[in-house]
Amino acid sequence: MKKVIIDTDVGTDVDDAVAITLALKSPELKVEGITTVYGNTLLRAQIVLKLLKLMGIDDVPVVAGIEKPLLREREVWWPGHEGKGILTDEAKRDLKPVDKHAVDFLIEKILENPKEITLVTIGPLTNIAAAIIKEPKIIENVMEIIMMGGVARIFDNAPELPYIEHNIKCDPEAASVVFDSGIPITMVGLDVTLKVPIDRSHLQRIKDVGTELTDTLVRLIEIWWRFLKSDSSCMHDPLALSYCIKPEFLETTNCKVIVETQGKYTVGQTIVIPDESSNIKVACSVDSEEFIKFLIDRLCSKI
Ligand code: BDR
Ligand code: CA
Repeated sequence: MKKVIIDTDVGTDVDDAVAITLALKSPELKVEGITTVYGNTLLRAQIVLKLLKLMGIDDVPVVAGIEKPLLREREVWWPGHEGKGILTDEAKRDLKPVDKHAVDFLIEKILENPKEITLVTIGPLTNIAAAIIKEPKIIENVMEIIMMGGVARIFDNAPELPYIEHNIKCDPEAASVVFDSGIPITMVGLDVTLKVPIDRSHLQRIKDVGTELTDTLVRLIEIWWRFLKSDSSCMHDPLALSYCIKPEFLETTNCKVIVETQGKYTVGQTIVIPDESSNIKVACSVDSEEFIKFLIDRLCSKI
């Protein structure tokens, strides 16, 4: 089993909750911990704890992390629906994360398991950057980072893509620290994640399962779609997570990645340059159909 820690901004876009469920329903993975980042990280940790409870899991540590970007004056985007459809005030009282800071938890776990932990980052990179700054020894001791973040815009679909991706834009300085660290990284950006939407037909399949867990996921998906004013949304984070279960859904190419932190219009942009010698692999194409089939089957499975 592959040892993973997931660092997440669960609660805003529904795809984090889907990715966490996918991880915990995957026998290939041993989830060593889940850390939360960006905005109200205690509330995000309580959402994770509730998801775990719905899956009958009580032995995965959940740890709250940093609330603000490294440059404290950068704004935090908090649309306000976080926690709706899954948490009540009463339930929150019993949902207590580990009494430790996420940055310390990450450092300890990585050093206790040299070259064994895969970090799956599905939110802004503040916790990971702070851990690197506090304890640079984690650079040699972490196995790899699989990251949902960035957009390369150098592949076939480039003209259709936005310039800037949310996780990098929310904390570009942190992203820059992580990309420059030397840690082996797989960057799963919008180039591929925008190709894996789910729609009402997938929602219906999840609805048909009829457990408390799937009913909750359906409610969270509907809340997010109402916010987006849409009938579908992309499974960015589950696609990144799937890379540590079934890497064959994605093709990658080695690239150097630079994060723009100072441009007038381009803060958060990832500048991606093909470079065979780079420690960063960038996802360039995806087998969307097979991935979505795998995802929905796992979400609906009894495991
Ligand atoms: C990323 O931003 C968030 O909205 C999603 O959860 C994902 O991690 C996509 O740009
Ligand atoms: Ca996310």
